Amino acid sequence: MSLSPRFIAFILAFLISLITSSFLAFVEGVSKGMLFVVSIAAFISSFFLVLYTVDILVFREVNKMYRTIHKLKMRDFNLAPRKKLIQESNPLKTINDEIFVYVTKKQKEIDELKKLELFRREFLADVSHEFKTPIFAAQGFIHTLLDGAMDDEKVRERFLRKAANNLDSLDVLVKDLLVLSQMETGDIKMNMAAVDMRLMALNIFGRLENIAKSRNVTLKVKPDELTEVWVKADADRMEQVMLNLIENAIKYGNEGGKVTVQFSEGKKYMEVAVRDTGPGIPHEHLNRIFERFYRVDKSRSKDIGGTGLGLAIVKHILNAHDTKIAVMSKPDKGTTFSFKLEKAFTSAHSEQSEEDFVTQVNS
Ligand SMILES: Nc1ncnc2c1ncn2[C@@H]1O[C@H](COP(=O)(O)OP(=O)(O)OP(=O)(O)O)[C@@H](O)[C@H]1O
Ligand SMILES: [Mg+2]
Repeated sequence: MSLSPRFIAFILAFLISLITSSFLAFVEGVSKGMLFVVSIAAFISSFFLVLYTVDILVFREVNKMYRTIHKLKMRDFNLAPRKKLIQESNPLKTINDEIFVYVTKKQKEIDELKKLELFRREFLADVSHEFKTPIFAAQGFIHTLLDGAMDDEKVRERFLRKAANNLDSLDVLVKDLLVLSQMETGDIKMNMAAVDMRLMALNIFGRLENIAKSRNVTLKVKPDELTEVWVKADADRMEQVMLNLIENAIKYGNEGGKVTVQFSEGKKYMEVAVRDTGPGIPHEHLNRIFERFYRVDKSRSKDIGGTGLGLAIVKHILNAHDTKIAVMSKPDKGTTFSFKLEKAFTSAHSEQSEEDFVTQVNS
């Protein structure tokens, strides 16, 4: 039911005139004409009085509050202006709803800020921790050399190499962090062009041949029929993505296992999947592995030499390509990372017959 000021005034005025005329009816000597005049007069005067009180003192004030809240909402949440006032409906309910929406949105904003603050604190702690390890190690080797170990030629070379290795990992760490922060601030522009993902995968297999051989891992590209896989991408950035995914699959997969890069052609998109036959990633870690510095098995991943930034960079690069990375993992069966990229043009199949990369690197 609509609770407009006029409606409220009408009801109250009607009741007041009814009560007044009912009482008057008991007074002796009051004629019907007088009764009629009094009830009309009581109705009109109470109608305007109530209308004034409700409209001026309640509705207008409530409307002012509504407008203020509305303006705050517009400004804080960048909404399009909406002029409608609340004369016709229950103003207190509307204003209550507005306040509720506003408070809920503000609360969400506060929660997000709190999360960001926590994230910032954790990030700072992680960065300092990651920096500390190589800096302390390099510092230790150099001080030991300065304190006298320098005189022994063998020790000198070994310690200098160790110090250099630690400084190299520090360099990798700083570069990765720089890329991440540039991606986050949008400073890195994607240089989109047609890229052959199959050729890229084969090149990366070549670069990682040594570590694959040392772990006796077989590298394959599938399917054989697709000889070229042209997509729209930034070649350098996409190489970073593929390098990390394939390197992870080799490093964290089983010794003697298999790493497959599989392409599946859709109408507009090409799906790229990097699959290994390793121990898999436990379910509870799956959505955290894309966080900066997150490693499933901290000590093991560190032994293998990762900074834990690889997948965070992968996620950002793929976001900049308007796509998302998906991960599927089964314990002891292996892990698959996959994403879709827009095709550059309808794929051309070359006539040359396809061979597994294993045969190409071994030949
Ligand atoms: N294919 C995989 N199988 C099992 N675990 C994986 C796989 N890929 C990633 N992980 C887990 O996810 C963690 C994060 O991977 P990410 O690539 O971000 O870091 P990293 O490889 O340790 O270091 P970086 O890539 O910076 O050298 C790894 O430490 C590992 O524990
Ligand atoms: Mg990695």
